[in-house]
Amino acid sequence: QLAGYRHYMQKEIFEQPEAVADTLEAVAGGARLTPALFGPEAEKTFAAIDRVLILGCGTSFHAGMVGRYWLEEYAGLPTTVEIASEYRYRVSVPDAKTLVVAISQSGETADTLAALRHAQGRGMTQTLAICNVPESAIVRTARLAFLTRAGPEIGVASTKAFTTQLTALALLALTLAKQRGRLPEAVEANRLDALRRLPAALGRVLQLEPQIEQWAQRFAERQHALFLGRGTHWPIALEGALKLKEISYIHAEGYPAGELKHGPLALVDREMPVVAVAPRDDLLEKLKSNLQEVRARGAELFVFAEDGSGVGGEEGVHAIVVPSHDAMLAPILHVVPLQLLAYHVALVKGTDVDKPRNLAKSVTVE
Ligand code: F6R
Repeated sequence: QLAGYRHYMQKEIFEQPEAVADTLEAVAGGARLTPALFGPEAEKTFAAIDRVLILGCGTSFHAGMVGRYWLEEYAGLPTTVEIASEYRYRVSVPDAKTLVVAISQSGETADTLAALRHAQGRGMTQTLAICNVPESAIVRTARLAFLTRAGPEIGVASTKAFTTQLTALALLALTLAKQRGRLPEAVEANRLDALRRLPAALGRVLQLEPQIEQWAQRFAERQHALFLGRGTHWPIALEGALKLKEISYIHAEGYPAGELKHGPLALVDREMPVVAVAPRDDLLEKLKSNLQEVRARGAELFVFAEDGSGVGGEEGVHAIVVPSHDAMLAPILHVVPLQLLAYHVALVKGTDVDKPRNLAKSVTVE
């Protein structure tokens, strides 16, 4: 069953090109974006909304955070993302013109299901599930559904479910952009082309494994780690920190790099390895100046850069170059090295990678 891999987590990380390709099947070949990707009633539903509320827990919440950037930038829809266990008990302002998107790998997470029902109970009936399990409670509860095609995910740490959720959210943002007249045909064709090339790009990122493995020992000896990113790569930093803490038991925090000076910089010293996600985007120069601040405090830096990012080469700054792809889709590629890093640190530490202590694969109780 492990097909030559040492753990399900490793197998599932390496299944990502296929999982993403399967999730994109409906737009394979010459197919165009259409609301029908999200169910027969989607066109009507999408026409009736003017904002989006995304609900999820853990890794699925992080996917929603990336989705927010895309929905606002491409579809022009005001979007909020909430942790389901908070939303369900919070006194919030219901709005019938909101598309409520529940994201869940299992479709059975108690808080996400309850949050979805809570929204419905308050008159928010335009609902969409992004889910990996067709017959699940969340799929049955939402009006619309988009099924990710990650296949069964056995490792407790979510990997291929996350990248397929991001793929689904990219399709959602672009479909809504198109329906709202914000995606000219030529741009749609380019974006679809970038999506179709994503599985091959993921394959190239997976080839970085031997380089990432060389970093693992350095982390295994430490008690703490800090993950930094900006923009759509802030949630990727959060996800990298979550992966590391859940399977290697090293305390890890993810931060938007611009927040460093507002507190976490006080933690930074020689004992604190800092991981940065540094694609070549509009925020790169800002991120680099954040990294200098970290370096000045003696922390060792581990940067996932992109060709031309111009990071690395100095003492104490280690860099691995992640192959370039379409800028919108960069977070889908940049999370993969972080998954591999967490995996290899856990291997060095000898933890139970697929079944980390105290955690269950599906959290069906509060
Ligand atoms: C982390 C992880 C969890 C889940 C969370 C939600 O690696 O797997 O944080 O993402 O429990 O689960 P689903 O997506 O099944 O609702």
